[in-house]
Amino acid sequence: MPINLTINGKPVQAREGQTVLEVCWENHISLPTLCHHPDLTPVGACRLCVVEVEKMRGLIASCTLPATEGMVVRTETPKVVEERKFILEMLLTDHPNDCMTCESNGDCELQNAVYQYQVPWPEHKGARHNYPAGADPNPFVFTDFNKCILCTRCVRACAEIQGRNVWGVAFRGFNDRIVAGADVTMLEAGCESCGACAAYCPTGALTDKPSRGQARSYQMKKVTTTCVYCGVGCQFDLNVRSGRVVKVTSNPKAPVNGMALCVKGRYGYEFIHHPDRLTKPLVKKDGAFVETTWEEALSLIGKKFAQVKKENGADAFATLASAKATNEENYLIQKFTRVVMGTNNVDHCARL
Ligand code: FES
Repeated sequence: MPINLTINGKPVQAREGQTVLEVCWENHISLPTLCHHPDLTPVGACRLCVVEVEKMRGLIASCTLPATEGMVVRTETPKVVEERKFILEMLLTDHPNDCMTCESNGDCELQNAVYQYQVPWPEHKGARHNYPAGADPNPFVFTDFNKCILCTRCVRACAEIQGRNVWGVAFRGFNDRIVAGADVTMLEAGCESCGACAAYCPTGALTDKPSRGQARSYQMKKVTTTCVYCGVGCQFDLNVRSGRVVKVTSNPKAPVNGMALCVKGRYGYEFIHHPDRLTKPLVKKDGAFVETTWEEALSLIGKKFAQVKKENGADAFATLASAKATNEENYLIQKFTRVVMGTNNVDHCARL
């Protein structure tokens, strides 16, 4: 049975179990959020999504508020806007004012909300945190907890998506902070370096280390592709600047994996432009490899294959296919091995 409610004077319908935030978004009513992410359990931590609801006291976080029959909701009243500005101002009192050099500039949800509500940089003479940036030695995730807003998206992503439970919240009050394990390094706490925490972080607190300083988000073109490492078929976006892949980011619409990626898929892209990668065929002449043309290389390979088959039989031959080749190329390899060479000795590196 659909649930009928009114949002900003407009009658809308909700499904059983939907929150007011979900109903708003589904009906193209924008509501700002920081701690919320559709993949993660809502916790109502940041209060940015507050709304006014008739017959309810105070302002209510819409991300944890179930839609109920007859509800009358207002999402952008002066009281709501004032509250959101206050929350953002409070966050800024303990946030570094370094957007110009921040890795997440242009891709930061806090920055977007501050811009949307035109919150000025606050006069603040009170305490600020001063954590050492980059303190965690993890080779793939850069930590800067001065930029953390304690939304706990990293905590939930690690626990709910990756199932590693590396991150947690420790200490109390102003000393509240995100820690790995019992305040140890990420790797000591069992991190697999999948980068999910960085992918879900709404600010610059957790970012991808290998791509730091490589490009602003607007300088990169996103190209959706399928991972070449294994047969799962995860998809992600290659972030390309001037013809070079400088970063991999999750694509929430990836049908197999959503935002989730493993360490190889997210960070193992260095091979693409690695100088050791062969771009021209080499043949051995007088004991040393020398560059040659494709024509010469292919005709030499053809002759050698035929010679092996003639002298030792078809089963002296085998092919080992590569996960970095496409399905079509791998199909051709096995077809060639069976039909041309006459053997079933076909294997694939992803089976190891
Ligand atoms: Fe609802 Fe943070 S988005 S409380």
